[in-house]
Amino acid sequence: MPSPSTTSLRRPPRRLLRSRLARALTTPHGVDGFLGLVDPLLATDDVRARVTRVRHQSADTVTLTLTPNANWTGFRSGQFVNVTVEVDGRRHTRCFSPAGPEQSGELELTVKAKPDGIVSRHLHDSARVGTVVTLSQALGDFTLPRPRPRRLLLVCGGSGITPLMSMLRTLEAERYDGAVTFLQYACTSADVLYRDELTSLAARGAFDVRTALTRETDAPEADLEGFFCRDHLNAVAPDHADAETYVCGPTPLMDALAAVWAEDGIGERLHAESFVPTRALVAPDADASAGTVTFAASGIAVDAGGATLLELAEGAGLEPASGCRMGICHTCTRDKTSGTVRNIVTGSVSDRECEAVQLCVNQPVGDVVVDL
Ligand code: FES
Repeated sequence: MPSPSTTSLRRPPRRLLRSRLARALTTPHGVDGFLGLVDPLLATDDVRARVTRVRHQSADTVTLTLTPNANWTGFRSGQFVNVTVEVDGRRHTRCFSPAGPEQSGELELTVKAKPDGIVSRHLHDSARVGTVVTLSQALGDFTLPRPRPRRLLLVCGGSGITPLMSMLRTLEAERYDGAVTFLQYACTSADVLYRDELTSLAARGAFDVRTALTRETDAPEADLEGFFCRDHLNAVAPDHADAETYVCGPTPLMDALAAVWAEDGIGERLHAESFVPTRALVAPDADASAGTVTFAASGIAVDAGGATLLELAEGAGLEPASGCRMGICHTCTRDKTSGTVRNIVTGSVSDRECEAVQLCVNQPVGDVVVDL
């Protein structure tokens, strides 16, 4: 007798389950809500994945291997996915970049637990083999072009290593024969991620792999000390003007590279991805945002008072979908039907009617109506 998790149920009869009758019978939980009771991976549309391996590369990170269900359509190295987990009865979503090669049917996520990170702490502390999470399809255009450039420089810091590790592993799987320099910044030698694999790649001569430690001096395995500077660049990639360069990491690292590339007049050859805001946030302005925000579909109106639309919605007890909460993933985008908003990342102000706005980075300026 096959169990509910065998292949036949992994691909549910979509036509039947997407029918109006099926939707009517399963309201308000939806077809996928009921399928999830049979098997957490079973869904007509949702991408869900089961944790099949958990390991810790450093004290504050966890590396999870995930096997997705049949709805997953794959990713290109460098892209990210929104990961949704339930914590204390509420669903929370954040974005993470897979670190594995794009040829793999699995997903590998290396997550750094941030002190105030609800999702990252939950995954670090609670994810076990068998845990099921909900994913988006892959998003983002921080990817390697085809045909591949003949010279690549990949620079990362902290957990920003994941999209670049994916690129490196993808190139390795493709037997790429161009030249790659991979430069990882970490605080101390204990924070260096994927050390053994990178050492092995370097030993085989496949890629030029370098490590820079920003806090620890006299570490024998460090090639460089301190933060990124032109001296580092001259030491590892004096030919950087001939390379396509990809960088992901903390804002100071990204800004330092951007400054050097701009100085050299080759800014178009630098490709950057960050999961923290790359520009300083404009401080929310309580005076400028006085007014009423109406969430029309919910029939709720609240005083604006300097918060973002997402904060106001959540403060009113609504649970709009959100992910990065910093204007990257677009998960929180909803229609503003009237009123003026200010983007607190760019500072731009918009009074257009019926426009899609990201709730997490837009602050009302006066009365605003949102279709939520
Ligand atoms: S939550 Fe990612 S853009 Fe708003």
